[in-house]
Amino acid sequence: MSRILFVCLGNICRSPTAEGVFAAMAEAAGVPVEADSAGTSDWHVGDPPYGPAIRAAAGRGYDITGLRARQFVSQDFDRFDRIIAMDRSNKETIERMRPAGSDTPVTLFLSHAANAPVEEVPDPYYTRDFEEALDLIEAAAGGLIGQLQNASAISPKAR
Ligand code: 4NP
Repeated sequence: MSRILFVCLGNICRSPTAEGVFAAMAEAAGVPVEADSAGTSDWHVGDPPYGPAIRAAAGRGYDITGLRARQFVSQDFDRFDRIIAMDRSNKETIERMRPAGSDTPVTLFLSHAANAPVEEVPDPYYTRDFEEALDLIEAAAGGLIGQLQNASAISPKAR
């Protein structure tokens, strides 16, 4: 069981979408995962995902209505096997909170996609392009699931 945490700024657009898409695609692929998401800010703590993000995800069959925003905390380094940032700014904020001795990998989400045209997931809260964000999130989720499958094939004891 891989525990994966997706992190963005507000935890109402990109990271809850990533959590929902990744969890659904992993289940469909038969890969056991525990997915969660968080924001580096406390601006929307307790809020459901942003309406347009909920509707765009629903348009592709993902239900993210039940998710609630929370703020990233340094204890997340111990609670998850991998932390995945939507953009470089998120990644830098996360790295500044890394506890001494923690070796939990923190990666950019799109580094897991095969041929992503950009390195960061553009924030649809500002771009208003929720379909672009979903295209990139689906590509990266698929790539990450493939990597998890390969890792468990190489070391079957990790299953
Ligand atoms: P997210 O997008 O980081 O993808 O959840 C944002 C949502 C809200 C705000 C900024 C980014 N905001 O400024 O409230």
